[in-house]
Amino acid sequence: MSKRILIIMAMEAEAGPVIEKLGLKETPANPQLRSHFPRFQGEFEGKDIVISLNGKSVEHGVDRIGTEFAALNTQSAILEFAPDLIINAGTCGAFSADADIADIITSDQPVVYHDHRVPLEGFDRFAMGSYPTAYRPKYFQSIEHKLGVVTTGNSLDMPDVDKQWIIQNRGMAKEMECAAVASTAHLYGIDFLPIKSVTDHIDIELDNVEQFLNNLSKASNKLSETLIKVLVNID
Ligand code: ADE
Repeated sequence: MSKRILIIMAMEAEAGPVIEKLGLKETPANPQLRSHFPRFQGEFEGKDIVISLNGKSVEHGVDRIGTEFAALNTQSAILEFAPDLIINAGTCGAFSADADIADIITSDQPVVYHDHRVPLEGFDRFAMGSYPTAYRPKYFQSIEHKLGVVTTGNSLDMPDVDKQWIIQNRGMAKEMECAAVASTAHLYGIDFLPIKSVTDHIDIELDNVEQFLNNLSKASNKLSETLIKVLVNID
């Protein structure tokens, strides 16, 4: 049976280039779900691929970025598609010493949160999380990439307290969904792999909203090229 790979992505703009390059077709909406997660399916290199998006907010008309809809999206896609591997692909911020704009970051270390602070015995470690990745060097053979900790929070900005946590955890890719997707994959015992492309430097003066918007298209194109190469390398 061919390998089933689920790719969870938050933003339509991040996913557009790869959906087009892979020639995936939108699947009918699942009537059991109150919330529509747009899904695109197809075969590529003998693998069955589904890209599932977080969908749009009905109230605000924007992509439902962040952890809540990432977890709902992932769980419902797992139940519908029963994947062998889950990839969370998207964009991230990074320190300028670690990565350039559009660089690819993946991870062989557990994914953590940087904005879940609960200083109570046991709850502290639960809140921070530590969700495994299934990085294999052969997946990234001949692909330029960096290995570092992916760290998740629900804000685009970086207050000092978050920065301290990110530095303490040696975070390299700061983003908004990965730990939620990784924890859901872990719950179901499914291998998980993050692939992130850098849109902004989190330690320079220029507003990261502005950087994000300026670099989103470049990073999304790099992400799509990389994803396709990784999908070829996965056996
Ligand atoms: N996604 C892209 N850039 C980000 C940042 N700086 N923080 C959180 N998520 C991001």
